[in-house]
Amino acid sequence: MALIPESAATGTHRMPPGPGLPRALQTAGFMFFPRRFFDYSRRRYGDAVTFSTAFDSRFVMLFDPDLVKQVFQGNNEQLRAGEANALLGPVLGERSVLLLDGAEHLRHRRLMLPPFHGRRMQAYEQTMRAAADRAIDSWPAHEPFALHPSMQSLTLEVIMRAVFGMEPGPLDDELRAKLRAMLEPVARPLGIMLMLFSGRLRRGQGAAAARFAEQRRAVDEILFAEIARRREDPDLEERDDVFSALLLARDEDGSALTDQEVRDELLTLLVAGHETTATGLAWSFDLLLHTPPALRRLRETLAQDDEEYLEAVVKEALRIRPVIPGVGRVVRGEPFQLDGWVIPPGVELNPSITTIHRRADHYPDPQSFRPERFLGPDAPDTYTWIPFGGGTRRCLGASFALMEMRVVLRRVLERTELQPTAGPEKVQRRAITLVPKNGVRVRMTSRNSV
Ligand code: HEM
Repeated sequence: MALIPESAATGTHRMPPGPGLPRALQTAGFMFFPRRFFDYSRRRYGDAVTFSTAFDSRFVMLFDPDLVKQVFQGNNEQLRAGEANALLGPVLGERSVLLLDGAEHLRHRRLMLPPFHGRRMQAYEQTMRAAADRAIDSWPAHEPFALHPSMQSLTLEVIMRAVFGMEPGPLDDELRAKLRAMLEPVARPLGIMLMLFSGRLRRGQGAAAARFAEQRRAVDEILFAEIARRREDPDLEERDDVFSALLLARDEDGSALTDQEVRDELLTLLVAGHETTATGLAWSFDLLLHTPPALRRLRETLAQDDEEYLEAVVKEALRIRPVIPGVGRVVRGEPFQLDGWVIPPGVELNPSITTIHRRADHYPDPQSFRPERFLGPDAPDTYTWIPFGGGTRRCLGASFALMEMRVVLRRVLERTELQPTAGPEKVQRRAITLVPKNGVRVRMTSRNSV
C-alpha cells in the first residue's frame, strides 16, 4: 500500500505535507468522516495538505482563502478545471463548458454569458414566481411532506421554461420524463460515481452503461429535433430563453455553436442548475425553520419590502451548507508555484469550500446560522465565501441561482406557514452534492390563496 511522506520534495517540486496513512485509510476518511478528517489534517499539516486516496493517488486540498485566491487567479491553460470535471463527460458530452479548458472554454463561456445577465434575467423572475406558486398549491395542508423533492420539481420546471424555453404540453412532459430516466442514476448516492470510477460507463460496458446509453440517445433525439426546429423558427430572435440565445450567439468572427455544442450546453445547464438550486433551497428552509429569530427577522423585513436580510439569509445558507463541497484544477505545463510550494503537472488542487466556510477566524461561531454576518461592511470577501467556486470558472448560473432562491423563499414565506416535523437535517453526500438526509420534512399549517 502506498504511503505519502509527511513532506515531499522531489527535484524541483515541493509538495505540501500530508498524512502518512495508507491510501485505504485516507479513502475511508474521505468517504465516511470527511469533516473530521479535514479538520484534523488542517490542524496537523496546515492550509495546504497532500492526500492520497483510491480515487487519486496524489492531490492537494486547500483550506485558506489566500491560497484559493492564487488558484482562482491562476492561468486557465495551466490550471485546468475541465480536466478535473472529466467524470461528468458521459452525461454532459465532451463539448460542455464544464469540461473544456483554455481558449475553448473561454469561447464557450463568452457565448453563454449574455442570457445570464441584465435585462434577460428579469424575464426569468416571473417564471420563478409562477413555479413557486404551483409548488405551494400542490402541498398538502396539515400533513407532513418533504420539501426537498418539491424543490427539485420546482427548479426543474424553472429550467424547462427559462433555459429550454419549453411550454407546458406533451413535448415538455416527454423530455422531462426522458431526462429524469437518464439522470436518475446520477442522483443516487453512489450509483454513477462507482460506474464512472470503474471506467465502465466511459467504455460503454455492462448492463447499466447500455441502459444509460439508450436513455441518453432518447434525450438526444428530442434535443436535436428541437434544435433543428428552432433554427428554422422565424421568431427565434423574439424569444427570451437561454436555448434560443445559444442558437443566436456568435463569435467575433461570426461563427456559432454547433448542434452538438448546443446540446451539450443545454444538458450542462440542466445538470449544473437544477439539483444544486433545489438543494440550496431545501437547506435554506431547514436552517430558517430551526432558527426562529432569523425567520422572524426575515418575515418582518419582507413585510416592509426590504430584501437585504433575505439576500443575507441565502448567502449564509450557502456558507453553512454549501451544496458542492469543493472544486478542482489539474496542473498542466509548468509546475505551479503556490506560496512556497511547487506543484508538479498532473496534480489536482482542490479548494475545500466546506472547510473554508467553517473557519472560525473568518466566521466566528461557524456552526451557527447567522445571516447578520453578511450585512454591513465586514461581510466575507470573494475568496472566503466560495459556494460558486471562482475565477474564470465561477458558476455561470450564480446570479440565476441566487435570484431563484430569493424569489422562492419570499413567495413561500408570503403565502404559507411551515413547521418543521423533525430536528435539523444531517448532511448526506449524493453524487457530487451535499443534501439534507431526510428531505426536510415539514407541515404546512396555513396557506394564502394568492
Ligand atoms: C445554488 C446553486 C448552485 C451552486 C451551489 C453552484 C455551484 C457551482 C460550482 C461550485 C461550480 C464550479 C466552479 C469552479 O470550478 O470554480 C459551478 C459551475 C457551473 N455552474 Fe453552477 N451552481 C449552482 C447553480 C447553477 C445554475 C442555476 C446554473 C445554470 C442554470 C449553473 C451553471 C453552471 C455552469 C455552466 C458551470 C460551469 C462554469 C465553467 O466551467 O466556466 N449553476 N457551479
